[in-house]
Amino acid sequence: MEQFRYMHDRLWCEGTDLEECAGRFGTPLYVYSRQSVIDHCRWIESAFGNEDHLSCYALKANSNPSILRILAGERIGADVGSAGELGLALDAGFPAGQITFSGVGKRDDEIAGAIRQDLLSINAESDEELKVISHIAQELHKRARVSVRVNFDIQSDTHPYITTGRKHNKFGVESSRAEEVFREASTLPGVELLGVHSHIGSQITSSETFAAAARAIVELTDRLRRHGINLSLLNFGGGFGVRYRDYVAHPRLPVEAENPESNLTTVSMLKEILPILRSARCKILIQPGRSMVAHAGILITKVLYKKRSGGKTFIIVDAGMNDLIRPSLYQSYHQIVPLNVGHADGDRHEVVDVVGPLCETGDFFALDRTMPAVERGEYLAVLCTGAYGYVLSSNYNGRPKPAEVLVDADRSELIADREPVEKLFVKRIV
Ligand code: LLP
Repeated sequence: MEQFRYMHDRLWCEGTDLEECAGRFGTPLYVYSRQSVIDHCRWIESAFGNEDHLSCYALKANSNPSILRILAGERIGADVGSAGELGLALDAGFPAGQITFSGVGKRDDEIAGAIRQDLLSINAESDEELKVISHIAQELHKRARVSVRVNFDIQSDTHPYITTGRKHNKFGVESSRAEEVFREASTLPGVELLGVHSHIGSQITSSETFAAAARAIVELTDRLRRHGINLSLLNFGGGFGVRYRDYVAHPRLPVEAENPESNLTTVSMLKEILPILRSARCKILIQPGRSMVAHAGILITKVLYKKRSGGKTFIIVDAGMNDLIRPSLYQSYHQIVPLNVGHADGDRHEVVDVVGPLCETGDFFALDRTMPAVERGEYLAVLCTGAYGYVLSSNYNGRPKPAEVLVDADRSELIADREPVEKLFVKRIV
């Protein structure tokens, strides 16, 4: 399932040598493994056995059209968060009847578009949104299929910026008011009330957290049923954490200390909560993003300079926080390895900061990291960046967006062109 590995001293993706790939396409460069996307998707699907369910891939994790076409080919569904993502999902071949639309701030035109397309479910987040959906549906002479997102105030172990299911977060309807909101929604003329939705956060690595959410959602569906509101969909959302440490191994690489994610997998977490969810007797939906694609991608960058200053060693690379913002924004950990560990200076390790070229102290990929000693001109791979990598890239500091390449065995093809720097300005400068 994991398609990035060392052969002798060089890192390969499937049957493709990544140093050659970097030389051919330039850096910074996102590289994805087609087989890894397929394997992760099938592996997650395997947790359900023959059970009637639908996994709706959360496009926000990675919405490159080629990646989307691979996932649509696996006949799963999609979860979109905007009109743009809806267009991308439909273009890629996801059937409208297998698409859910989530988001706390849907615009009227986005709601109208979703209703016109007859999506599987619009996941509403407030009483006011429910009324707006009903009103727009009536104007279109339709009934919108709707689920209501409930905020169960579940404590999770993830970064505060990516927890979504706490009471003080902006998401969903407070669980204490859920029954009242569902009752009201069931009377709205433009709404066909189908389900309950919950998404408690992202990169969650505790099955107990998920179990608490599962118990809460099942308890609510039971209570609603007792009061005459029968739901057919139970949408448990996404958030399944993945392993970021010790992803690839080589005798010349340091063993990464303390690995909080080592014992969990998406499938083991799902297997623990499915028995709870099943008891609600609804069709189960999930909306995984990261767990489908994080391990399928890496970011390759080139060492521009090595500088010793203030008692530190800085490895200054040609990718920056505009290409991959996760370490800066969430202090997230990504393993960083040389594409060719044979270049390294024997088995010597150094403690370094791997930093980008932008004018921000927060522009870093790793701080005080023990790595093989590398020099100007060498390539590094920032691993497990298939999710929330390229999609969060920007033109900050006047930097063009990087290229994306898809590897299929020994073939590699460009799936997003490197943005030409000239796209950012009109005046000729050279
Ligand atoms: N469903 C909803 C309603 C969501 O808001 C999200 C993610 C997902 C599903 C997919 O969650 P996943 O399975 O990928 O954890 N940029 C952050 C992550 C933000 C997640 C936002 N919502 C990061 O880089 O860690």
